[in-house]
Amino acid sequence: MKSILGQIQRLFQTALVQLLGQQGRSVDPLIRPAADDRFGDYQSNVAMSLAKQLKQKPRDVAQRLVDLITPLAAALCEPFEIAGPGFINIRLRNEWLAINLNAVPPAEACDRLGIEPADPQTVVVDYSSPNVAKQMHVGHLRSTIIGDTFARMLEFEGHQVIRQNHVGDWGKQFGMLIAYLKEKMPAALDGSSTVHLADLEQFYREANAKASEDPAFQDKARAEVVALHGGHPATLRAWQYFVDESRNHYMPVYGRLGVKLTTADERGESFYNDRLPGVVADLNREFGAPDTSPQPRPGVHEPHITVIESDGALCIFHWLPSGEPMFKSPEGKPFPFIIRKSDGAYLYATTDLAAVRFRIRDLGADRIIYVTDARQAQHFEMLFSTVRAAGWTRRSGKPEVQLEHASFGSILGEDRKPLKTRSGENIRLSDLLDEAVNRAANLIRANEADPNKKRGFTEAEINDIAQAVGIGAVKYADLSQNRQSDYVFIWDKMLALEGNTAPYLMYAYARIRSIYRKGAESSGDLTGGRITLTEPAERVLARAILRFAETIESAAAGLRINLLTEYLYEVAGLFMKFYESCPVLGAPTPEQRASRLRLCDLTARTLAVGLDLLGIRTVERM
Ligand code: ARG
Repeated sequence: MKSILGQIQRLFQTALVQLLGQQGRSVDPLIRPAADDRFGDYQSNVAMSLAKQLKQKPRDVAQRLVDLITPLAAALCEPFEIAGPGFINIRLRNEWLAINLNAVPPAEACDRLGIEPADPQTVVVDYSSPNVAKQMHVGHLRSTIIGDTFARMLEFEGHQVIRQNHVGDWGKQFGMLIAYLKEKMPAALDGSSTVHLADLEQFYREANAKASEDPAFQDKARAEVVALHGGHPATLRAWQYFVDESRNHYMPVYGRLGVKLTTADERGESFYNDRLPGVVADLNREFGAPDTSPQPRPGVHEPHITVIESDGALCIFHWLPSGEPMFKSPEGKPFPFIIRKSDGAYLYATTDLAAVRFRIRDLGADRIIYVTDARQAQHFEMLFSTVRAAGWTRRSGKPEVQLEHASFGSILGEDRKPLKTRSGENIRLSDLLDEAVNRAANLIRANEADPNKKRGFTEAEINDIAQAVGIGAVKYADLSQNRQSDYVFIWDKMLALEGNTAPYLMYAYARIRSIYRKGAESSGDLTGGRITLTEPAERVLARAILRFAETIESAAAGLRINLLTEYLYEVAGLFMKFYESCPVLGAPTPEQRASRLRLCDLTARTLAVGLDLLGIRTVERM
């Protein structure tokens, strides 16, 4: 099944071709959900935009379109209405909604709700990407869960998704750590004594302090970086040990979060080491300029780059068609993208250039999405404009590779400052998750102690539900935000059973499933029941269920997860209204009962698939 929006669009497209010839193919029929149910379900605004071009009154254009579509649309909608300046109002027929719902096949292991896959693209999603030798803190939560949801949504759409964990495993922190440990605890370097990540972190802090007051130590640290990048065996062994230790820390965090990253998705900065000299040499060969001070190439009237060597460092400068610099320092000078330092060291930027090239040429990416916080916005702007100017995104016979920085805001404490512990430290992600689960367990235990609310859960059930609800609540509170905004982290709000929260949706799911189970117990197999829509509350619920496909489509295209969460919240709310006004188990006829039970089933499946795309586990009872 195509989305409803897609089916309506197709009809309009056919009519537009009849009206305008081949040119009609490229006209967007501008179909939107109606703002108010009184105007129907969808509306098209295309007549207004065509009127000028056709030199006709918008209402006349609307009428001509309506005359062309009406014979095609008889099964789909009631007679069209033309309203106001030339809106075409579309009211779907109840029978057509029911046909589409009845066509949804029974759930399979990987439920698609009967939705057709899109034309597949290869999409690389770069997310999580923690830095080695440091524990993950709340700052890594957002990239990890937002990126994982993108990956899941795109996979659901039918795309080939390649997850990349661009682990920070190659930077100067290793030089410091190794130099420091050589002095302080050499046994830690060959693995003959165990050091945990928390110790490494402490050593790293101490090493940093030492470096800031001891230039000789700085030199040693630099020498260790050179040894590492040059592949010196002892240094490499120590490095490997740190990397493994860090992985032992973050893999279980992914497990708890229900994040699908595996060690096979790990392609850290170190992977690109061998490719860096080649990338830099290629850019220098093609775009190197003889100038010593940055200037645009004469006579070039499109965005371009120049590569300039200054004090041994290689810098990329970006130019607008006007010859103005694209990026400027606060003093208004052209601002460089540095790809090699004067001591010959490569940088974060260099690795990212090598990584884009690898993703396009070796992984075959059509689209690359980077999930990091907004502070890296300038880095990615410079990266993308370098790559585009270098021509790496152009492919013959295919559209240009899409590069996107999906940035996000900060998590704030109730004091509106970045979330920290009471003593002002970064909150460790694993501590935050422990607290979430504990709080959820306490809420369930409080209910169990109340005779009116007691459900009789076993200890094992309480623990299982607390895991699902606690982690789900933290994830949902984050994913339901507009990702670019900062948001305030409030335990009570995210764990509440009311409002747009994970517990509310999970509870709605469990409740609907229990209604369905009761129905199935007394009527046996329900999968053959036909849906018929008579009551208004049935109709709006049915329409909402059918809008899942188009919701995922726009959430995945615009990388806006909150469209999905708002949708799920709406579906759960419409179900509650339906359940209040339309008796299900006590429906007047067996046919109506079967029809309504199927609506229950489809609602529960929609919620389950939606929550699964957010990486949130549902439970059958809570
Ligand atoms: N490790 C980096 C950090 O913690 C994030 C890397 C993001 N990905 C990339 N290709 N630059 O800030």
